[in-house]
Amino acid sequence: MRALIAGNWKMNGTSASARALAEAVAGKLKGAVGPLPEVALCPPGPLVPIVGWVIRDGAVALGAQDCHPKEKGAHTGDTSAWLLKDVGCKYVIVGHSERRADHGETDALVQSKAAAAQSAGLIPIVCVGETEAERDRGETAAIIKRQVEGSLPPGATAENTVIAYEPVWAIGTGRTPTVPEIAEVHRQIRALFEQRHGGGSLRILYGGSVKGSNAAQVLAAEGVNGALVGGASLDAVDFWKIIEGCPVG
Ligand code: 13P
Repeated sequence: MRALIAGNWKMNGTSASARALAEAVAGKLKGAVGPLPEVALCPPGPLVPIVGWVIRDGAVALGAQDCHPKEKGAHTGDTSAWLLKDVGCKYVIVGHSERRADHGETDALVQSKAAAAQSAGLIPIVCVGETEAERDRGETAAIIKRQVEGSLPPGATAENTVIAYEPVWAIGTGRTPTVPEIAEVHRQIRALFEQRHGGGSLRILYGGSVKGSNAAQVLAAEGVNGALVGGASLDAVDFWKIIEGCPVG
């Protein structure tokens, strides 16, 4: 399977900086030789079409950071998966821990968003991950099981779904789990997925303080098929180091 490096820009950027960053990433990809992972950019909502225009030749995939479970209607401030598809998205992140924390998103809501994304023809990047307190209490496996089972729609397949393991305590902190710890959770996620949804080439990304300096090590962990990158995806040079450091798979 082809690995995926997705940049989650979160609530950062302007129309000008987004254009420049997308141009820089697309330009590096155009000039690259040899096999590389798939690259996706997930800007904040209003910047999605702007980035989409810059990367319109298709070498870089477009993604969004959230969607509503419904196709359309009276949901002020929300964006449907169908609209994201219409403006050129391939991916949408759902269930990011920042949305679970900031907006009280439950596994059931995340599941309905993932199902909407799949119905609209998007690939949801479904995020799961334990907090530091949960890891300290030895609850990581239980939390991952609850989130994976609760957040994936029955119709999830290895082809229409990506899962991102993002330990909450590793996001934006500069700390990461050890390589064996990452491999262990990825193994658990894959086993849970296969029990309910069958086998295939499911991509499971790691996210949390991935940078150019640690990408090669973290992304070589067994069962890791790419990364969901926050802060480092805002810097074209560091983001590119992650792309180059990722085993293609
Ligand atoms: P950082 O790479 O900034 O730690 O963020 C990770 C993340 O939350 C990606 O979705």
